Amino acid sequence: MCGIVGIVSNRPVSARLVEGLTRLEYRGYDSAGIAVVNGQGIVRRRAPGKIINLQHELDDAPIDGTCGIAHTRWATHGRPNMENAHPHRAGNVAIVHNGIIENFKLLREELAQNGHVFATQTDSEVIAHLIQHYLDKGLDAEDAFMACVARLEGAYAVAALVGDTNQTVYAARHGSPLVVGFGEGEMFVGSDAFALAPFTKRVLYLEEGDSAVVSIDKVCVRDKTGTLVTRDIMTASISAVMAEKGNYRHFMEKEIHEQPEALARTMAAYIDPENDIPTLGKAAPLLAEADRLIAIACGTAYLAASVAKYWFEGLAGVHVETDIASEFRYRTPALPKNGAALFISQSGETADTLAAMRFCNQATMGTIGVLNAPESSIARETDAVMRTLAGPEIGVASTKAFTAQLAVLAMSALGTAHARGRLDDDQIKDHIKALSQLPELSQKALAVKSQCEEIAPMLAASKQTFFIGRGVYYPLALEGALKLKEVTYLPAEGYAAGELKHGPIALIEEGTPVVVIAPTDELMEKTISNVEEMAARGARVIAITDEAGAKHFTERASHTIVLPDMPGLTGPIVCAIPLQLLAYFTALKLGTNMDQPRNLAKSVTVE
Ligand code: G6P
Repeated sequence: MCGIVGIVSNRPVSARLVEGLTRLEYRGYDSAGIAVVNGQGIVRRRAPGKIINLQHELDDAPIDGTCGIAHTRWATHGRPNMENAHPHRAGNVAIVHNGIIENFKLLREELAQNGHVFATQTDSEVIAHLIQHYLDKGLDAEDAFMACVARLEGAYAVAALVGDTNQTVYAARHGSPLVVGFGEGEMFVGSDAFALAPFTKRVLYLEEGDSAVVSIDKVCVRDKTGTLVTRDIMTASISAVMAEKGNYRHFMEKEIHEQPEALARTMAAYIDPENDIPTLGKAAPLLAEADRLIAIACGTAYLAASVAKYWFEGLAGVHVETDIASEFRYRTPALPKNGAALFISQSGETADTLAAMRFCNQATMGTIGVLNAPESSIARETDAVMRTLAGPEIGVASTKAFTAQLAVLAMSALGTAHARGRLDDDQIKDHIKALSQLPELSQKALAVKSQCEEIAPMLAASKQTFFIGRGVYYPLALEGALKLKEVTYLPAEGYAAGELKHGPIALIEEGTPVVVIAPTDELMEKTISNVEEMAARGARVIAITDEAGAKHFTERASHTIVLPDMPGLTGPIVCAIPLQLLAYFTALKLGTNMDQPRNLAKSVTVE
């Protein structure tokens, strides 16, 4: 992941480089650094950890110049320490890199034989040395940069300073996003338009294989064949205002509380007010005519896809395969002849999801992106975009984006069922009426906050926690466990309730917490039997259910979280809220940084 900023200006750039980085911290926070051309050559400052540490470093030992690059790191190769922090240097070159250079070992050996001495364990450092190598051979700055890029294999977005006095940023992208921004008397480079939003909204998105020479008043873009090309300049719709925590202690807490509003916005975008049926835009014919659907995503978004499988199959009668993007792209998937593929992603930049989408595009399957970022790479390349209107999600662990994805997928399943004649107008209206209650139901679900806070110390003190559910609540159980793991670092496992006895039950000891997600449905009785099996072995049961279901747990559960009745498809969306609250309060109890948990990043642009 890693975030990149570059500025070429007629005024000092250091402060703005750091400001841009701050807006990219969601991409990684293992270390940060900047390099500027300052009249005496290229100078740099770096610090391990968050950007605030770099700021302190700059306060103690300021550097400035009118041309510079900056980086916030999510470590892939080499520990997250000072030595491995970007920008990397070699002679008169400094570079910042996002991605993985797969042939770095070969290049490193070759350069070492030519006398280059490496100072880091990163794959990225090889880029600086390779550019310097070509400078040593007599190539000018641009040619040296291009010669280097031509030899890189893997995924990268790179920005480089080449030469002691050269007021130019050289940039290239292959697999990782990069935008060029147009200011007044200055130009910018950034990992996304959000990083550049305080400086300019006029941006150009580099395409795959593009490289760019960015000087104070212009950019020259070449495509992968080296041909000069013109790319459209567009106005980014992104706000320059940084999301603030408001009255909340953490973004995660704020974003959990924003769900009623996010769901209202999202639902409104998919209901045709004239006749109360789902409006799916360009996705409608793709979904209606497909023989089979593939739903591909990573992390929490994958779990949204897993819930959608139950809805599409149950309501629309269309077979859905779900796939983890990193698995899909590296096997030889047998694609349906007349299928459509859904790609679910908050960021729209997740490298594996993007690659899977490109694979399906090439195979001429209809592709649909369910996305929170309307200007992301997936949004630009997919056949149809279905937006989740969750608003910016800053907390690394997805909360409101997940429930907004579920809302869009529920509407998609209904629209598809209607188009295929599986649900008639009245049935659709009933479903829409139920889903329209989501803002109110999710508001009511937030009322279980204090109960989740009371349960949290028990989870915080436990060796591990299990989450179980059946049907649509099985993926929810996986999400509950994932959320707890992500923000508390405590072991947690999600299981299909009926599957526990096939192995995992061996881990249940006296007092092991088991969170069971069991609102009233046709599987309730079966789930209760599984709860009995757990309780008989000493498990401490925490039930998430509705008013009608609560009576089943009076004897069986140590805690029963009672949600309002959840009609139609609303259940998994509403049940996500107590799961998020349990994870949040457990993290609060343990004192972890739940907004930026260790080792994680919000947008994962490496494979
Ligand atoms: C990262 C985040 C997760 C997210 C996943 C997929 O791992 O930490 O919260 O679910 O990426 O991200 P996407 O942007 O594709 O939804």
